[in-house]
Amino acid sequence: MENELENLTKEIQDDFININSIDELEKIKIKYIGRNGILAQYFKRMKDLPPDEKPKIGKILNTIKKDLEYKIEIKSKELNKNKQEEKIIDISLPGYRFLSGKYHPLTQIINQTKEIFKSLNFDITEGPEIETEYYNFEALNTPKYHPARDTQSTFYLGEETLLRTQTSPVQVRYMEKEKPPIRVISIGKCYRSDQLDPSHSPMFHQVEGLMVDKNITFGDLKGILKIFLSRIFEKKVKIMLNPSYFPFTEPSAEVSTSCVICEGKGCSVCKNTGWLEIFGAGMVHPNVFKSVNYDSEKWTGFAFGGGIERLAMIKYNINDIRLFYENDIKFLEQF
Ligand code: PHE
Repeated sequence: MENELENLTKEIQDDFININSIDELEKIKIKYIGRNGILAQYFKRMKDLPPDEKPKIGKILNTIKKDLEYKIEIKSKELNKNKQEEKIIDISLPGYRFLSGKYHPLTQIINQTKEIFKSLNFDITEGPEIETEYYNFEALNTPKYHPARDTQSTFYLGEETLLRTQTSPVQVRYMEKEKPPIRVISIGKCYRSDQLDPSHSPMFHQVEGLMVDKNITFGDLKGILKIFLSRIFEKKVKIMLNPSYFPFTEPSAEVSTSCVICEGKGCSVCKNTGWLEIFGAGMVHPNVFKSVNYDSEKWTGFAFGGGIERLAMIKYNINDIRLFYENDIKFLEQF
């Protein structure tokens, strides 16, 4: 009987190699350890064995049985796992949609603006959004009771502190730190207590530019802005300068670009004028140089400033500033 059992062990091993399904495993289970299975028959035959062989054969049979039960358990787990995986991979399901992130249109304009000015050898600097009266107004030749303060509906935080209404204070902070020649831009948030409407927001972004050197003229201003606007709008634009007023520049100008939508022919965006006002600009006022201890006999410079939102609205043909702040995916995913 011992030899028979050795063969049985081999037979079990062979059978197991060929099991590929739960059904097959079930058949094997019945074949060997079913009530009338092969092992049961061997156990039955035990009573006919000579008494001295019984313990030895009994031990072997029990080992085979335990081993078999263990094998069945392992195989069953393995087969069930495969079955579950089969369930998960349902090739008839529609695929997942992978959403890719995008930069906010304002961030795109800000990044492009920085790149263009970097390529023109401009430095990039930042200033605080919480400013003092001194930097936002006083040092910019806008003393208390100056009428120009009225036009900048200021959010005051205290007697001396406020939310900056423009990025121009960064000009002063930068000139205090650096000596000419200067080529710098600064981009950031500004605040004015304006009612939210399609073209006004109490929080918005400005880009400020400043260039100071010997013999800087309006021609330099015009040249730099023409390059910048042509690159940001990705088409050749014309520039028009109209007389304007800012306390910190003299003379001052309103900078317009030929309409990028109709190319000057006249459309609803440019209100049939063919021109779009983009920047405030001018030659740095001697009083501003005085406040940073620059000799205005030696140095001249130009400054300009304007809204990032306005650039983005023109470039992407957006007609409502509020869309930038509503975080509506349907709007944002278009850029
Ligand atoms: N700070 C001005 C504004 O907010 C724009 C400006 C900047 C004008 C620099 C002249 C020079 O309207």
